[in-house]
Amino acid sequence: MKIAVIGVGHVGLVTAATLARVGHEVVGLDDDQAKMQLLRDGKAPFFEPGLQELLDQVLRQRSLTFTDDPSEAIRGAEVAFICVGTPSRPDGEANLIAVEKAAESAGRAAASDLVIVQKSTVPVHTGDRLAGMLAKISDHKFFLVSNPEFLREGSAVPDSLEPERILVGSDDPFGHEVMRKVYSHWIDRGARYFATDLRTAELAKHACNAFLATKISFINGVARICEASGADVVSIAEIMGSDPRIGDAFLNAGLGYGGYCFPKDVAAFKAQASTLGVDFGLLGEVMRINAAALDATFQKIKDAVWNLEGKKIALLGLSFKAGTDDVRESPSLYLAQKLMAAGAQVTGYDPQANEEAAKALPGLMTALDPYEAAEGADCLVIGTEWQEFAELDLVRLKGILNRPVIVDARNLLHAPSVAEAGFTYLPTGRPALNL
Ligand code: UGA
Repeated sequence: MKIAVIGVGHVGLVTAATLARVGHEVVGLDDDQAKMQLLRDGKAPFFEPGLQELLDQVLRQRSLTFTDDPSEAIRGAEVAFICVGTPSRPDGEANLIAVEKAAESAGRAAASDLVIVQKSTVPVHTGDRLAGMLAKISDHKFFLVSNPEFLREGSAVPDSLEPERILVGSDDPFGHEVMRKVYSHWIDRGARYFATDLRTAELAKHACNAFLATKISFINGVARICEASGADVVSIAEIMGSDPRIGDAFLNAGLGYGGYCFPKDVAAFKAQASTLGVDFGLLGEVMRINAAALDATFQKIKDAVWNLEGKKIALLGLSFKAGTDDVRESPSLYLAQKLMAAGAQVTGYDPQANEEAAKALPGLMTALDPYEAAEGADCLVIGTEWQEFAELDLVRLKGILNRPVIVDARNLLHAPSVAEAGFTYLPTGRPALNL
């Protein structure tokens, strides 16, 4: 099948490459010229494990091509996927202008009937709004489909090649029929496939992300109680997680959730509920606890070094989570900003995100490795859970830090080893050592 993918960011590019990999003829469309140039040169425009290799393969097979011309992308396509951004407005509501524009450009470029698939995370009724808009601008018939994406940054390629579920919502039997063809590779291999109406699929994605964020805030709330009482949140998460009804995923206490998805999706789901006349107050608490997790770490660093003015803080990890160079809504970067605003001098190090972080936070210094960042620092903070930080040479670190203090905002290090090496160790929701 010929498929157009509009918007080749994290979701769009991985989706395009995956669909090309299973035999579809895919054209990626984007108006970001710099990104398109990189892609035409065969280079992934962002770091995502396995993506470059996948791109090499589908570009070699010519099953994936790129264009910035909507007519070229849509010509002959049976399906157009919309994978553009849906950022937050100041009131939390999702800004859908990019979605509207993408659908409009597909609608205007279409020379025949077209299935339009919404992959970006959008509020319920977006499909209905798009259908109404498209009916006004073209005489062709458009079949609206909601096909939310569940891939995670850092494991987007395997998540996409072997999805744990596929969700397709449409009010039109033809929309469902075409999507079964799009996903036949996975359906034939027994993937879990949910076919619903349009609104159910749209809401399900927001419900999934909001629930995962709620789990994170729940455990961060427990972490605060642990800190006030001397209990250990890591053991509590393990005990909770051993109950299959709770499950052990997404119970890592830390700096709170970040990234391009959870913060905007929780806010958008809450705003959406309120527009529909439903007070989903729980989500307000989820956001409040998330902000409190960051504040708690800031306070811990402040207590540890006393006056922050002029103090040097080494911050290990700048991306919003390990495995990505994405610093959008990165809790670690927000922490750096807060520390800098309080007068501290922050030197960060990230295995992938140094460049992006320096661009996003002017004034942030970055180091070439963790030891360079730690040189002369008054406190070392683990801000993102990159595995390589768990393997640091503690003796070497102790020799170069100005004061042997480690704030572990991700509970990454092996507490007894850090204490044994003579550090004051301040983890999250666990008892401090060598205070
Ligand atoms: C998330 C969802 O997990 C995907 O299923 C979804 O497709 C995607 O959003 C999306 O809507 O596009 P992602 O944003 O890549 O994926 O990252 P996650 O792995 O979910 O992590 C989100 C944040 O929660 C990170 O800041 C992470 O550090 C934090 N987190 C995660 C915790 O603080 N504790 C945990 O136990 C788990």
